[in-house]
Amino acid sequence: MEENFTSRLPGFYKKPIEERLKIVSELVDLSEEERKLLSNFGNLDPKIADAMIENVIGSMAYPFAIATNFKINGRDVLVPMVIEESSVVAAASNAAKMLREGKGIIAVADKQYMIGQIHIINVTAPQYKALKVLEHKDEILDHANQQDPVLVKLGGGAKDLEVRVVETRKGPAIVVHLIVDVLDAMGANAVNTMAEAVAPLLAKITGGDVVMRIISNNAVYRLARAWARTRPENVGGKEVAERIAWASLLAEADPYRAVTHNKGIMNGIIAVALATAQDHRAIEAGAHAYAARSGSYKPLSYWEVDEDGYLVGSLEVPLQVGIIGGAVKVHPIAQIALKIMGVKKARELAEIMAAVGLAQNLAALRALVTEGIQKGHMRLHAKNLAVMAGATGDLIDKVAEIMIRDGRIRFDYAKELVEKLAKGEKI
Ligand code: MEV
Repeated sequence: MEENFTSRLPGFYKKPIEERLKIVSELVDLSEEERKLLSNFGNLDPKIADAMIENVIGSMAYPFAIATNFKINGRDVLVPMVIEESSVVAAASNAAKMLREGKGIIAVADKQYMIGQIHIINVTAPQYKALKVLEHKDEILDHANQQDPVLVKLGGGAKDLEVRVVETRKGPAIVVHLIVDVLDAMGANAVNTMAEAVAPLLAKITGGDVVMRIISNNAVYRLARAWARTRPENVGGKEVAERIAWASLLAEADPYRAVTHNKGIMNGIIAVALATAQDHRAIEAGAHAYAARSGSYKPLSYWEVDEDGYLVGSLEVPLQVGIIGGAVKVHPIAQIALKIMGVKKARELAEIMAAVGLAQNLAALRALVTEGIQKGHMRLHAKNLAVMAGATGDLIDKVAEIMIRDGRIRFDYAKELVEKLAKGEKI
């Protein structure tokens, strides 16, 4: 690290990528090899990367995998997943196989409505003013829709208005919700533009001050649902099915468990979100808010045993995803991901994500109520260690197998094995 190290880098944002990388490299003493790695943009054009976010100095690749076996609404689908955690893709593929009967997983995402919020403070007679806002509903919606004639032409746009008076610690405030059908967009741009546009009108109607105009990621009007039914034999028998239902009940009863239960669901959903360059923070925020909508944190999915002894699962989650605009449009890999899935509508993407979330959840619960998840994890962990220790080709599996057999899944042992096997020594 340089002696005069500083994070104050005026004009950094204006410099070309290579220059920024040079500045950082000198400041923190990056080696030539490290610089080369960072500046390998792989399948993302540096120009696109540079336009996507600020102060770009390189790029970072994650594995892009395909979860197999998915049948959703009667259609076979290959599901692209981008994730850093081992076992997720294998688990999703496994559970998808258990849920293939009939039409497979049924998934439905209907409306693509997002909420734009306008917060107004310093309002006298707020209850009356709230109704005055409703009195001007048509005018407000009209003004909002003038901002996006293309969306309106396609059948979307601002559809409705909600008004609430909320009590803050410093007195009442009016919260106006613009309900916007964003069709195939994630919607933040369209909704924020509309919210900003109608704000002066709302200030005039209420006589208050508008403090914020922004989308709400609590996407309660943009739900996706997935459900599936499977024979108990498919999950390992009647007892396993009953234990999975117990796992679901425990998640319902215990918020500490519900959070991890939902984390397992999000493993699948976010992996697809990353592969398709979605705003995954919005999806996460919305999903967890939805899980807590009753006032206590609940699971997003339920598993039960029905009257025929079949295991049945159901999931409901808000999914704010888009297939037009934003990173999904400019990232070539996101476009390929959509093509792999055969997705033509945001709604279809949400349906696939909900189905993947449900399958991912089943895989986790099944592992948890039977052998536990460590066994599978350790298998992959052993492979990772083997690769890190320099194993290639067939050697990877060989080294991993020996580490598992010996119960010594450690880097030093992986290294020792790689060296010995490379020399042709017998182990
Ligand atoms: C690990 O990434 C996810 C799980 O913890 C989910 C769960 O516990 O249901 C296995």
